[in-house]
Amino acid sequence: MRLANKVAVITGAAQGLGAEIARRFREEGATVYICDVNADEGEKTALALAKLSSIGGASFLKLDVTSEESWKSVFEAVRQKSGRLDVLVNNAGINIRKNIEEMPVESLDAMLAVNIKGPFLGIKHALPLLRASGGGSILNMSSVCGIIGHKYTNETYTTTKGALTLLTKSIATRYAKDNIRCNSVHPSTVDTPLLQTVLSDPVRRAERYGEVPLGRLATATDVANAFVYLASDEAAFLNGVALPVDGGTTAW
Ligand SMILES: NC(=O)c1ccc[n+]([C@@H]2O[C@H](COP(=O)([O-])OP(=O)(O)OC[C@H]3O[C@@H](n4cnc5c(N)ncnc54)[C@H](O)[C@@H]3O)[C@@H](O)[C@H]2O)c1
Repeated sequence: MRLANKVAVITGAAQGLGAEIARRFREEGATVYICDVNADEGEKTALALAKLSSIGGASFLKLDVTSEESWKSVFEAVRQKSGRLDVLVNNAGINIRKNIEEMPVESLDAMLAVNIKGPFLGIKHALPLLRASGGGSILNMSSVCGIIGHKYTNETYTTTKGALTLLTKSIATRYAKDNIRCNSVHPSTVDTPLLQTVLSDPVRRAERYGEVPLGRLATATDVANAFVYLASDEAAFLNGVALPVDGGTTAW
């Protein structure tokens, strides 16, 4: 198993891509902490994933990534229960879909808080525990919008994901001395139940499929597999990488 004996904190893991990352981590033997504001879904996900492997485990911890106190409580709980931390996955993110001219400043603040302040605080408070564990891996969920100005996506989301790309590289250079690697993952559009409304419009469907050289959307498992690799010791020399999982979308 590729993640045996590793302890991972995964944010936004109650549902969607975070839950799939947690599922794949469990298949590879990790102990995962499902961290989310949504306690009902988070508890259910943790319960289902706990049974998935005979080694490691899964438990839910309530976390609001925008709150420094909330992060401190999570890492204190992880320290008490597991005594170590090997992987932090900053996956929680929101997208309020309005172009710059229509974006209320409150929505801008909300997106900056979850998408940037969240990972910033997570990294800030994970570092001491990662260092005490002899090093580890920090993984940030960016997007193709963290690499290119994506014409179907609003400027605010792109701003937050672009900032995350360089937060990643900055951490990668500063904390490599502590054997802490930091990488970001950049998916193109993922085929999720939430996306079905967008895909039911034939024009928007053609736009989304047409931009991918491989001619299909990403699956949640495509994305989660990249996280497994970057979290594992197979990626021991990957640091500061912005890894697209986009079927070639950013390669045109
Ligand atoms: N779905 C895509 O097509 C796609 C593509 C590229 C990147 N991404 C990124 O992947 C990540 C996950 O996306 P998704 O589609 O699974 O989203 P989702 O909305 O299905 O899940 C997001 C999760 O984050 C949690 N969350 C929201 N605010 C939080 C907070 N303040 N504190 C803790 N948890 C919070 C939600 O409760 C939810 O469980 C996001 O960062 C998103 O930007 C998604």
